[in-house]
Amino acid sequence: MIKVLFVCLGNICRSPMAEFVFKQMVAEKGLSEKFYIDSAATEGFNEMCHAGIHHGTRKKLTEMQISFEEHYSRQIRPRDYVYFDYIIAMDDRNIDDILEIVGPDTERKIYRLLDFTDEPRNIRDPWYTGNFDESYDDISKGCRAFLEYLLKENNDGKRD
Ligand code: 4NP
Repeated sequence: MIKVLFVCLGNICRSPMAEFVFKQMVAEKGLSEKFYIDSAATEGFNEMCHAGIHHGTRKKLTEMQISFEEHYSRQIRPRDYVYFDYIIAMDDRNIDDILEIVGPDTERKIYRLLDFTDEPRNIRDPWYTGNFDESYDDISKGCRAFLEYLLKENNDGKRD
């Protein structure tokens, strides 16, 4: 079982988009039982408000025919670092904030999503840009590259 946690600032725009894009890619390869995939925030305010997925993310996932369930924002906790194998952030600031919460990345589990692509950089926050199309393009490119990396790393996802 490969356990993946996608993380962004609010856990209502980018990381839930990545969670459901990646779940669909994994399902298309018939590998759903080999993965546990979730998402979380670095900030706690949306958890306190019991905030669900942003309408911009819902609209884009629906347009792209990617199924999603209800998801409520939750803040990453130190125990997530122990439980998950990969903690995948959207930008540098997320990485700094994750490290503050979970402590040093002694097991090298924390990555930035686009670092798996040939264009390593941050994914801009549609909460501020309003551009969910751009977020989707970056997230789907990153998820595709991350899955390819995992399939190579883990001998076609056969790791226990
Ligand atoms: P996300 O975007 O990190 O992609 O989920 C944000 C969502 C909410 C807020 C900030 C960023 N906020 O300040 O509530």
